[in-house]
Amino acid sequence: MSQVFNKELFQNKLSTRWLGKDFEYLKKVDSTNSYLKKIPVEQLNHGMVVLADNQEKGRGQHQKEWVTKPGENLTFTLALKPDRAEGLTLLTLSCALAVANVLQKYSDKSFLLKWPNDIYVDRKKIAGVLTECSFLGPKPEKVLIGIGVNVNQEEFNANDVEQAASLNQITGKKFEREELLANILVRIESLYQSWVNRDTNVHREISRALIGFGDWIRLSVDNEVVEGRYKFLGVNEKGELLVLNEKLELNTYSHEQIRIITGSESISKVR
Ligand code: BTN
Repeated sequence: MSQVFNKELFQNKLSTRWLGKDFEYLKKVDSTNSYLKKIPVEQLNHGMVVLADNQEKGRGQHQKEWVTKPGENLTFTLALKPDRAEGLTLLTLSCALAVANVLQKYSDKSFLLKWPNDIYVDRKKIAGVLTECSFLGPKPEKVLIGIGVNVNQEEFNANDVEQAASLNQITGKKFEREELLANILVRIESLYQSWVNRDTNVHREISRALIGFGDWIRLSVDNEVVEGRYKFLGVNEKGELLVLNEKLELNTYSHEQIRIITGSESISKVR
C-alpha cells in the first residue's frame, strides 16, 4: 500500500545534531541524486537530505536503473561537504553499514554488505548506495550519497537482474518509513563522525560485515573471473579491498569494477 511520506512525523522522530535537519520532501522527481547535483554548491547545506516518494529515473551503480514502487520504500540522498579528500569509498561503506545496522534491529537474519556498496539479506539485495562527488582541485566540494532501501514493497519485477528483497518480505510486517529514516540518519551521523576522526574501528566493523570476510574467494574484474583464489581480509582505512593471493602476498584493490565471488555463487552467474 502506497503512502505519502509524513515529513512532520519524520522531523519529530529525528534526533540527529545536524544530518537531515535541512530536509526536503519531494512527491516526484527524476532522481534525488540528479536533483541535488543541479543545486549550486554554495546553496547546498552540509547534511541536507532530500527524499522522494517517487523517482521516475532512479539511478543505480554502473548506469543501471533503480526502480521501486512509489510510496513504499526509502529513496533519498544526503549532501555532504567533507574536508577530508581521501577515504570516500570508506564513507560510502560506512553509510551502507549504517543501513545494515538499523535493518538488523528488525530481524534475526543477517544483513551483510556486498562490496562495493550493497546491503544483502538471504542472498538478496535489500538496499544500495550510489555516491557521486564533484571536486574542486583535490578537495571534494560536494559528496552526494544516494540510498535506496526496499521497505514495504511486497513484490519485485521478475526481470530484475539482481534478486531483490524488502524488509516486508523478510519479516512479514509493514514499517513506518519515517522512523526507519530517522534511525538510519542517526547511525550515519555517528559513523560519519568516526570517519572524520579516522577511527580505525570503522573499517574493522565494515570488514566484519562484508560477505566473504575471512573466506577464500575468487575475484572478477569487469565481469572476467581472475585466475586463482584469494583470502578476503576486508577493507583498509581507505575502504580498499585487501586480499592475500595463494602465495600469501597482500594485494589491494580500489577499482569499483572488482567483484567478489564467494563459494556460494557460481561463476556463470558473474559472467
Ligand atoms: C545501487 O545499488 O545500484 C545503488 C542504488 C542507489 C539508489 C538510490 S535511491 C536514491 C538515490 N537516487 C538515485 O537515483 N539513486 C539513489
